[in-house]
Amino acid sequence: MTLKPKRVFSGIQPSGMLHIGNYLGAVQQWVQGQGTKVNFICIVDLHAITMPQEPAALHRQTRELAALLIAAGIDPQQTTLFVQSHVRAHAEGCWLLNCITPLGWLERMTQYKHKAQRQESVLTGLLDYPVLQAADILLYDSDEVPVGEDQKQHIELTRDIAGRFNSLYGETFVLPQPIIRESGARIMALNDPHAKMSKSDFTRGHAIRVNDSPDEIRWVVKRAVTDPGRDITFSADPARAGVNNLLQIYELFTGQSRAAIEAHFAGKGYGALKTDVAEAVIEGLRPIRERYEHLITDPAELDRILAVGATQARAVAEPKIREMMAKVGFVLPTL
Ligand code: TYM
Repeated sequence: MTLKPKRVFSGIQPSGMLHIGNYLGAVQQWVQGQGTKVNFICIVDLHAITMPQEPAALHRQTRELAALLIAAGIDPQQTTLFVQSHVRAHAEGCWLLNCITPLGWLERMTQYKHKAQRQESVLTGLLDYPVLQAADILLYDSDEVPVGEDQKQHIELTRDIAGRFNSLYGETFVLPQPIIRESGARIMALNDPHAKMSKSDFTRGHAIRVNDSPDEIRWVVKRAVTDPGRDITFSADPARAGVNNLLQIYELFTGQSRAAIEAHFAGKGYGALKTDVAEAVIEGLRPIRERYEHLITDPAELDRILAVGATQARAVAEPKIREMMAKVGFVLPTL
């Protein structure tokens, strides 16, 4: 008996420059999982416009993100890399799922509540964001969804929506599993280890962007908030969150074991920790930055890669949306 390879789907918004939280929580997992599974990675521009975007910036950032993902190791030969709006089934699937999703399920989402708090007038798309995300995942019969911890609730909601559709219309969807790493699931802000590193915080010192210069990385890490203690050990104690965050970043960039890292830093001070973390990040990001600088000079090649990805994605998503429409009772257009 041959086992069907697992389907993996994940998405990322083209709303601002990729930071090391996105890279370590999500992208590095996607790269490491390539080869044995069937991978779909989607640049979710429909999601990005749930928050106000400047059109020229959104346009530029979509290609920049494609270039960065490829530079970070996403291989278009092994992964279907595509832009969400190029595959119409995502918006159509969202509509069908909207019509079976109770409003109360969406109002409970912590990310919605958090983002809505900061808006004067809340857009409908922001509330609907997780239903579109459910459509993304379910259209590909995805078994696994590798994400950072902040997305766990959205994947659980996806399972609830899938279960509801299945019970109303018969078995249609695979129930996906969130795949969340132990280290890197929640990379914290360097200037505030109690807040998640976020794309929308532009305060200098908050984040390290994947294409920041070595000097900028040294500047940010040197000022990272730690604590008055001395121990350089992994710890779940909230009072030691700053040091723990730096150690996780070091762990994921060097690939060393926790025991080896603690032994390396035994008897050293926070100054040494920061120097070593900064250099590990610089070395880890250097090849990505170099490949990115090269790829971004050829937008036609990026568009070609994204066009191939969209064709491959449509080949999976279109039959699925037809299956959904048929189950709901629509007369299907003849092909
Ligand atoms: P986005 O673009 O906000 O985030 C992309 C990925 O980065 C992870 N992430 C983090 N991981 C660790 N530490 C952090 N500080 C950190 N910040 C962000 C996120 O968890 C995410 O995995 N809603 C998704 C986009 C999406 C999606 C999908 C994901 C749309 N459709 C379908 C999976 C499947 C998001 O948050 O994107």
